[in-house]
Amino acid sequence: MAWAFILLLAVASVVIFVVLFRYYTPIGSPSGIFTFIAAGLTFAVLLLAGVVVLHTHYRRTKEHLGVLLDDAEEHARIEHETGDIILSLNKVVSAQSDEEHRLNKELRGLFLETVRGLIATLEARDEYTQNHSLRVAGWSTLLARYAGVSEMDIETLERASLLHDIGKLGLPDEILLKPGQLTADEFAVVMEHPERGEAIVKNIKLLSPTRGIIRHHHERIDGGGYPDGLSDLPQLVKIICIADCFDAMTSNRPYRPSMPYNVAKEKMLEVADSQLDGQLVRDFFELLETTAEGYRSIYHVAGIPEPGYREENEQRLEIRSERDEDSY
Ligand SMILES: [Fe+2]
Repeated sequence: MAWAFILLLAVASVVIFVVLFRYYTPIGSPSGIFTFIAAGLTFAVLLLAGVVVLHTHYRRTKEHLGVLLDDAEEHARIEHETGDIILSLNKVVSAQSDEEHRLNKELRGLFLETVRGLIATLEARDEYTQNHSLRVAGWSTLLARYAGVSEMDIETLERASLLHDIGKLGLPDEILLKPGQLTADEFAVVMEHPERGEAIVKNIKLLSPTRGIIRHHHERIDGGGYPDGLSDLPQLVKIICIADCFDAMTSNRPYRPSMPYNVAKEKMLEVADSQLDGQLVRDFFELLETTAEGYRSIYHVAGIPEPGYREENEQRLEIRSERDEDSY
């Protein structure tokens, strides 16, 4: 804009100079010399005015640029400081989240220990079922992990397995500890324990996800179980049924001695696909015989076969476990 103004002044002064000199002044006369000097002075004044305007504009532009530069620096400084603050906040939030996660895990572990302690106290009443729930929980979680169940569901299954027979709390000793076979009436009372168990846990928030598993742990896939005669069983229920059945067979009972490993296996394979989920039963015995962890879990069972596990099987179990933790 300023340059256009200067150009305009220059053009205007040249035009004035030419007009005066050409139309009003005879060349060589005194008035011609006067006109020439006047025109030159006009041109010089206009040029000076142009220089002043240009200088003023330059100074203002420089000041404006300085202000913009200061603003930009201030903006960059604020942005940098904001970034630092956000980074610090992120660190605080992350540390808080880690702490919450750790406390949550600790709380869940403490809760599980409390449940284990409670169950051990209850099972102490009956020498035949001592540690039954602990073993069922161990096999349920092993089989669930082997079958690719998520860690969150495994945690629910572990709690449910520990508590699955809690409904037997109210059973009288003459039924619970009876050495011989139960009468039909006595068995009818025993058959109430899944519903009693569900009623005990249903109002405890941390245990409410275990309700269905506790209620249905005596159902069969052919619908011949109790209390509801369900045939479309959830996977966690199918798993606990297998673990419960295996421990019942391989433990002493008041009315019969424990069965050796192969007898229990044969009997369970006979009812695979009718009472128990066939694929899970086969997975279960594969797990017990071909993985180190599974094999260690049956050390106490009579007549266990030679270990059939190899390194690659152990790795497979670990890989499944890692994958589940990721999805969790
Ligand atoms: Fe039971």
